[in-house]
Amino acid sequence: MPASDHHVPVPALQPGQVHLWQGTVGCGALADLDSSVLSPSEQARMASIANTDARALYAASHVALRHVLAAYDGRPARNLRFRTAEGGKPGLVDGHGLSFNLSHSGQMLLIAVADDCELGVDIEQQRGGHRSEAVARRFFAPEEYTALATCPAHLRSDYFTQIWALKEAYIKATGQGLAQPLQGFAVQCLEHHAELLRCDIGRPNDWTLVTWTPTPGYKAALAAQRPALEVHHFDLAEAGIPSPGGSLFRKPHSGRP
Ligand SMILES: CC(C)(COP(=O)(O)OP(=O)(O)OC[C@H]1O[C@@H](n2cnc3c(N)ncnc32)[C@H](O)[C@@H]1OP(=O)(O)O)[C@@H](O)C(=O)NCCC(=O)NCCS
Repeated sequence: MPASDHHVPVPALQPGQVHLWQGTVGCGALADLDSSVLSPSEQARMASIANTDARALYAASHVALRHVLAAYDGRPARNLRFRTAEGGKPGLVDGHGLSFNLSHSGQMLLIAVADDCELGVDIEQQRGGHRSEAVARRFFAPEEYTALATCPAHLRSDYFTQIWALKEAYIKATGQGLAQPLQGFAVQCLEHHAELLRCDIGRPNDWTLVTWTPTPGYKAALAAQRPALEVHHFDLAEAGIPSPGGSLFRKPHSGRP
């Protein structure tokens, strides 16, 4: 069996569960990468990315995505085929209900997997934020903007990134991407709890939102069209994905959910 087709044992995916896989792309990831599992179009997209770090993140994300999905699906990673739904959301061809979504930012990537559930994830590297006020005024719903404006100043940057990630996760779950009006729904983030206040697809109670800090300097969010969820977190490096002994991903050191 080629190294790129090794089988990774993953926990069984039970109905009502979402499995979240996160990874931090290590230095020199491109040199360690076996990209032979990628399709010709993925290889072409990878080659078209001029920035080395962005290319490494794209490549690591898609190699990891194939290995994670293959582990649940049972087919070799290189044999998986993807389709793109109207609106741009990727899905598995012949996936038999296996749902997934991918996000990457900075040096981190996040993959969510579930059984037959509309879901979206977003991971965001926090950046210095004097423009966040103007961005929030333009893109956030009025309820979200008011909550941000009344947030204590020292928490505002964190809160902004959490709301941003939640909104991204939701529009990725619906699959409409930026075609969906960002003010047509509103999210709220309390200390240990996030929720959908209103939405234009279904009812807020149909949705579960989760936000967390995957590692210092990043915020992440999950949106799933299910009223209740059991969320399990896994690390790609600890699980040896994509290759045993490979150094594509750094072991986590702190900031686990
Ligand atoms: C494309 C978009 C769906 C996500 O973009 P993003 O946040 O830059 O990127 P992420 O890393 O989170 O997600 C990218 C992955 O999502 C998946 N994806 C692409 N289109 C998608 C869609 N319509 N729905 C769900 N998932 C999608 C793909 O796997 C993609 O990976 P790839 O680019 O390596 O092929 C879209 O929401 C976007 O362009 N957002 C821009 C930011 C913005 O204005 N946000 C407003 C928040 S207030």
